[in-house]
Amino acid sequence: MSRIIGINGSPRANWNSAKLLDSALQGAKDNGADVRRIDLYSLNYTGCRSCFACKLLGSPTFGRCAINDDLKPVLEDILSADGLIISSPIYFGSAPGMVRSFCERLWFPSHTYSTDGSVAYDLHLKVGLMYSMNVPSDSFYTDFIESEKEKFSSMVGPTAVFSAVDTLQFSDYSKYASAAFNAEHKKQHYEESFPEDLSRAYEFGRSLLG
Ligand SMILES: Cc1cc2nc3c(=O)[nH]c(=O)nc-3n(C[C@H](O)[C@H](O)[C@H](O)COP(=O)(O)O)c2cc1C
Repeated sequence: MSRIIGINGSPRANWNSAKLLDSALQGAKDNGADVRRIDLYSLNYTGCRSCFACKLLGSPTFGRCAINDDLKPVLEDILSADGLIISSPIYFGSAPGMVRSFCERLWFPSHTYSTDGSVAYDLHLKVGLMYSMNVPSDSFYTDFIESEKEKFSSMVGPTAVFSAVDTLQFSDYSKYASAAFNAEHKKQHYEESFPEDLSRAYEFGRSLLG
């Protein structure tokens, strides 16, 4: 049975990123995959520590991250899986630090400073990157999203991208500093468009492995 690991890159366990991820994983499950969800913010780990154990020629850690923390078994599980879905909010035009740290640990062992572009992973893994954001169009972040897609494609495996825009950030806008937002519009968008986002996410997960 094929296996897909889902990563929730939001600190919130049941908001936009998590719901979109759950929907994608449900789609994958309905298509026959075994799925597992991991919440990054429940783990204790750091980004790359520049130890270079993953580049040490002839070492058993070549091409693998040697740091022994909560991320180690997750990375091992990912590298033996068939699919990886990462669902992340956009923070300041990029991914949250926890997601970036996770990516450093996943990407760097694959990258071998080769002259021919060869990498340490066998690139069998299919990757789905899911982003949710406040802005009304993901074109605000085209450069970031394309750059992430390119890094995942070249170091981890073939990568597809999904976006959900104009997300609801708090359930009651009247309780928080939020003058820049039209609360009525946010509520309406959440009620009318987010269910469609969840359906798209379901299809995204269902078709990830082809
Ligand atoms: C610290 C922080 C920074 C954010 N920066 C951006 C941003 O630069 N652009 C954007 O469109 N949304 C931004 N947002 C909004 C979130 O990306 C958006 O609400 C997302 O759907 C939240 O996902 P979640 O509900 O899974 O936590 C930011 C939110 C936070 C908490």
